[in-house]
Amino acid sequence: MKLFDLNGKCAVVVGGAGGLGQAIAQGLAEAGAKVLISSRKEDSLKKAKEEIKTETGIDVFYSVADATNEAQVEAMLEDAKNKLGGRIDILVNAQGFNKKQDALDFDIETFRQMLDANITSFMITAKHFGRHFKENGYGKIINLSSVRGKIATKGPGNAGYCATKGAVDMLTKQLASEFGPFGVTVNAIGPNITATPMMVPVFEKRAAEAGVDVETYLKQQGAGNPMRKMGKPEDIVGTAIFLAAPASDFMTGNILYPDGGLTAIG
Ligand SMILES: NC(=O)c1ccc[n+]([C@@H]2O[C@H](COP(=O)([O-])OP(=O)(O)OC[C@H]3O[C@@H](n4cnc5c(N)ncnc54)[C@H](OP(=O)(O)O)[C@@H]3O)[C@@H](O)[C@H]2O)c1
Repeated sequence: MKLFDLNGKCAVVVGGAGGLGQAIAQGLAEAGAKVLISSRKEDSLKKAKEEIKTETGIDVFYSVADATNEAQVEAMLEDAKNKLGGRIDILVNAQGFNKKQDALDFDIETFRQMLDANITSFMITAKHFGRHFKENGYGKIINLSSVRGKIATKGPGNAGYCATKGAVDMLTKQLASEFGPFGVTVNAIGPNITATPMMVPVFEKRAAEAGVDVETYLKQQGAGNPMRKMGKPEDIVGTAIFLAAPASDFMTGNILYPDGGLTAIG
């Protein structure tokens, strides 16, 4: 199936040691791509690299960089070109974090940090990888948005996260408009709530507020979706492979929702 074949392609997954980023990195590697994962902590990158090797037998590369820092992103791109063979075809932005606070008490410094990690870093990577993709006349950018870019949360807590994910959706569309003429697609994935390290403190807080244990809380969350279950990191991978592969070459500026149906009823 050439449409979904990534052999000969090179991919960089920012946030590639995180719950969703690691699953996507592994999926792209299994589909044939040479993959480099990047984030700020070398220990997590090494662990993710080892886990992917154990699961698949495939070696991925890694490069340490803070994606909110433009100079570090430029250096990471050069490092990735050296390690992967000179040319990158696919960029996945899977970095970011969520800190839930009521809007009336939101710590503004935390809000600024969320903007920096969840949206400014996406612009920085798109700018530099976009230049490289323009030179090549080909490229795929995949941004991790969220159902929270489209539907607000019932009740307080998500002002920072929803604002940044709405921004990811519009950045995706504008970049699609600007990069389309030189053969680069830019799309986003909008997952539903998924059990990853990012969500552990959120689950613990919400479960405590509801007076239940975390497992019961997660079951209750899943029950609200048409598919009657929560998503797992693996549920996002097929969408990422599709957006990285030739199958999506004429698709740009879209947000796809592997969300168990939440946005259908939201
Ligand atoms: N899990 C969910 O429920 C869910 C739902 C919808 C959308 N998403 C989105 O999916 C993406 C991945 O989420 P996740 O659940 O996989 O989170 P995660 O497990 O916490 O992983 C986040 C990753 O981002 C990296 N990161 C954070 N800040 C960074 C920075 N400034 N520069 C470079 N790397 C940075 C982290 O590594 P370091 O700390 O080592 O840098 C980590 O590898 C995020 O954009 C998130 O908003 C998640």
